[in-house]
Amino acid sequence: MPVTDKGLAYEDLSPVIGTRIDSDRETLLSGKYGKELRALLQQRGVLIFPQVDFSDDEQVVFTGTLGTLAYDYNGFAMDGGKQQAIFKVSLDEAVSPTARSLKNSLLWHLDGTTHEIPILASVLSAKQLAPEGGDTEWASTYAAYDALPEKEKRAIEGLRVVHSNLQLQRNINPELSYEQFQRARNSPSRSQPLVWTHRDGRKSLVVGATAGYVEGLSHDDSLDLLVRLRDWATQPQFVHRHHWQVGDLAVWDNTGTLHRALAYDPASGRLMHRSMVAGEESIG
Ligand SMILES: [Fe+2]
Repeated sequence: MPVTDKGLAYEDLSPVIGTRIDSDRETLLSGKYGKELRALLQQRGVLIFPQVDFSDDEQVVFTGTLGTLAYDYNGFAMDGGKQQAIFKVSLDEAVSPTARSLKNSLLWHLDGTTHEIPILASVLSAKQLAPEGGDTEWASTYAAYDALPEKEKRAIEGLRVVHSNLQLQRNINPELSYEQFQRARNSPSRSQPLVWTHRDGRKSLVVGATAGYVEGLSHDDSLDLLVRLRDWATQPQFVHRHHWQVGDLAVWDNTGTLHRALAYDPASGRLMHRSMVAGEESIG
């Protein structure tokens, strides 16, 4: 297994996305490799730590070694309005008050597109698994952008896309009542560049389930572009899929990947604990 200059053992899981880290929990919690893990995260999109089995407190400590711990999501405090560092991800409405809206987690997306500064990274621990389904997939939007033909890169440069909670609500319920529609319409939305030029100069695509429409294009032309680019970005060569074991931890760069969970039974008991690293740059 390769090791970094400072002695961190890792193994790449595919050419462009996903790296497994082989380190013991005490070393990870010490923060010794915080900077190295941040650098690997930016290069590789997803880091998998098999069966580190962190407690919630340990997960919070580890998250803090990667950057600034974030307490809220999309401007809303998580878990029923209380500010908590750990958010329970479950599709079971008896477990999570936001279970309904988490149905969007089954669609390709990145988090915080209606935020001025989206979160930098998510940290997810597997606590209980579904007997079937529930794998997580990530797609590298850096690699997807890089692989676009130059002509296409030029054609999409400068385009802006409106991301909205309205779009998310319509994904869950395509036939909103007028009252539901008005509520969703008055909730956050934001125009973002289709191509994110990051402060280090790298570029990535910003597409997925929060994308409502491309400014200045007709309805059908807008969908044509958004659907085509999402399909492009989620081709197998840009995707890493993780089949969870209880105790596994995954960290992903929310600014350069799309993610989704594969379908599972909401009553299966599947439970993940999630924490977040605060964002550091706006999309544009
Ligand atoms: Fe998400």
